[in-house]
Order: sequence, then structure tokens, then C-alpha cells
Amino acid sequence: MANSLLDTLTRKALFALDPEFAHGMAVKALKTGLVPACKPKTAPALAVKLWDLDFPNPLGMAAGFDKNAEVPDELLRMGFGAAEVGTITPLAQPGNPKPRMFRLVEDDAVINRLGFNNKGHAAARANLTARKTKQGIIGVNVGANKDSTDRTEDYVKGIKAFADVASYFTVNISSPNTPGLRDLQARDALDDLLDRVLEERDRQTGMVGRRVPVLLKIAPDLDELGLDDICSVVLTRGIDGMVVSNTTLDRPAHLHSQAQLKEAGGLSGAPLFAKSTIALAKTRERVGPDLPLVGVGGVQDAGTALEKIRAGAHLVQLYTGWIFGGVTMIPTMLAGMAEELNASGSKTLDAIRGETTSDWASQPLASPDKSI
Ligand SMILES: Cc1cc2nc3c(=O)[nH]c(=O)nc-3n(C[C@H](O)[C@H](O)[C@H](O)COP(=O)(O)O)c2cc1C
Repeated sequence: MANSLLDTLTRKALFALDPEFAHGMAVKALKTGLVPACKPKTAPALAVKLWDLDFPNPLGMAAGFDKNAEVPDELLRMGFGAAEVGTITPLAQPGNPKPRMFRLVEDDAVINRLGFNNKGHAAARANLTARKTKQGIIGVNVGANKDSTDRTEDYVKGIKAFADVASYFTVNISSPNTPGLRDLQARDALDDLLDRVLEERDRQTGMVGRRVPVLLKIAPDLDELGLDDICSVVLTRGIDGMVVSNTTLDRPAHLHSQAQLKEAGGLSGAPLFAKSTIALAKTRERVGPDLPLVGVGGVQDAGTALEKIRAGAHLVQLYTGWIFGGVTMIPTMLAGMAEELNASGSKTLDAIRGETTSDWASQPLASPDKSI
């Protein structure tokens, strides 16, 4: 079946369903092999080497699609260069009451307030240790239980639980859907969190024989001083990289899907692109040219992916764009990126990184539109 027809049919079928139910169906379809693999042709110009990991391409699946690490290999078979699973909390938790995920079809966007619904460390660990192949890059995104009395300890437990099966870790302190979680972005709380997380990672290094990189995922809803604090703690503590960004609480005035706009939760997809790219560029200016950054938010085609790299990213992730773009989208994006790089005369991703950092960084972080 032609790729575009497959995408149109899958999209039509899935979009007729409740978004969270459709998501469950998509995970099931991947799991049972109903979706044919669509591995891209390798494009050497798009390969990225970071922290001793060889990413075949810079496009990763962002956290939230595969919360329980059920289909990481299937995602890699869809062409992603990496799959980030989670967010995983120590104990299973149901998340917020349903409905809690909303499609903004006219805006290529989603609002979610899932609230870290997941089956906990043990279930995800069982899935990851049962993988037939240990090939491919699997990031493990760790979080804290809503009712935890020591949230920092929950992150430490995550490092302990997954150090031998994670290619890298993402410490997620930026979900807007767990009350108080974003408070961990404040300077002193963050310093303590990263101190304890890195101490555990270093302890695990001896045991697993490999230093697993730890990345910090931040919100786009920060002011300049908040971002100053985070970047300064990141640099002092020696974190290995940052993921910029999570979803936003903003509701930009130009959105069309009025019916869904009143829903509480984090907004992702196309309307997040500018805000998350400004946050990315401002982060790049603060941390210097070398710290690996992952650009996430509103990526939906080759152009937006390359723009994240021009703004300062080493790697790119997407989730919402894939919901709207369809399962065959990644190879198409990669071909477009290789073509565009070639046409621009810049032969490598390294050559374009930073080209637009100062343009993006000169724009204000705070959105003039309303937040909820
Ligand atoms: C339904 C949904 C669930 C998500 N769950 C998580 C999560 O558990 N942990 C996390 O770090 N980010 C989560 N995210 C945020 C994404 O990883 C990503 O940072 C954000 O959606 C911006 O990228 P996008 O515009 O490509 O979707 C979720 C996003 C969506 C849409």
C-alpha cells in the first residue's frame, strides 16, 4: 500500500476514536506487528554521535507515547533514531480522571493532563529486560509518584532501576500535570535533586560498566531568571544534556480549536514550536556551544526539525507531529532533511547548528497570550 494512503487510512480510523483510546490502539497495533516497518535509508550526514552513543539519525520519539516501554523496538522500526520511554514512576499510578487527552485538529495540537499514568518501574523494567535485541537507543524518562513523600528519592530509584537497560536517562521535572512537580525546577530543589541523581548514576557506573548519561527535561514556561538558575545548576553539577521542552500551559490567542481550549493541561504540537524553540535557543546561549541539547516541541516536518538544529539542538524529538503526520512520516522527514542539507551546501548537522540561535534567543520567553 502506498505510504500516503496507509497514513490517510490510519489517521482517519484513529481520529474517529477518543484520543486516548486511539493511542492505546496505536500501541497495540505496533505491538502486534500490524504496522509494517518503515526503516529509512541510512543517510550518513544525519548520523549523530553523542556520549558514546551512535544515533543513526537525530529524530527521537519523545516521552509520553510509550509510557511503559511496551514498543521501543517497534518505534525504532518506524525509523526513529531513538525512543524515549516513560515517564515512569516507582509505583504504578492511574493518572488523572478521564477524559484527559484532547485533539486540536485544526491546530495540529494536543492538550493532555494524563498525570503520569503508568504501570511503575517493575513493569517497565520487565519489558526492557525482555527485549529480544539490545540494539538501538532507548532513553528512560523517570519521574515521581504524585503521592510520594520524597519526590527526589523517586528519581534516584529510577536511576537504580534502569541503569543497566537505559541508553540514557531523562529526569522529567517539567510535566504540568503533577501538582508541584515543576517546583523542582527552582534552584535549591534542583541542585539537591541533581546531586542525588548523579551520585546514584556514578554508583551505578561501576556496577553496569558504563556511565549512563543523564539529561534534564525542562518546561517552556520559564522566565529568564528561572532559566538562568536551571542552566547554572546544570553546568555546576555536570549534567550530560538537556531536553527542551515539555508541553506549555499557554493558550496562544491564534488557536482555532475553541471547544478544546478551555481544557486544562499541557499543549503540544505546532503551536508549541516557536515557544519551545525560543527556550531552546536561550538555553543554548546560557550553556555554551558544547552541552548536548535535545530540541522538542512542534516538530512536524524536515524544515521544523532542521530549524531546531539551527537554533542549537544536537538531537530532535517529536510526539504530536507523529500523531498528525502518520506512521510513515519519519523516513519522509529524514529524506527531506538530507536533501535540504545538501541543497544548502551545508553537508553536516554540525555545520548548521547555531545558525539561528541568536535570532530565536532575542525573542521574549514569556508569551503575551493567556496561560491557564
Ligand atoms: C499525550 C502526551 C503525553 C506526554 N507524556 C509525557 C511524559 O510522560 N513525560 C514527558 O517527559 N513528556 C511527556 N509529553 C511531552 C512530550 O514528550 C513533548 O515534550 C511535548 O509533547 C512536545 O513535543 P511535541 O510537540 O512533538 O509533542 C507528553 C506529550 C503528550 C502529547
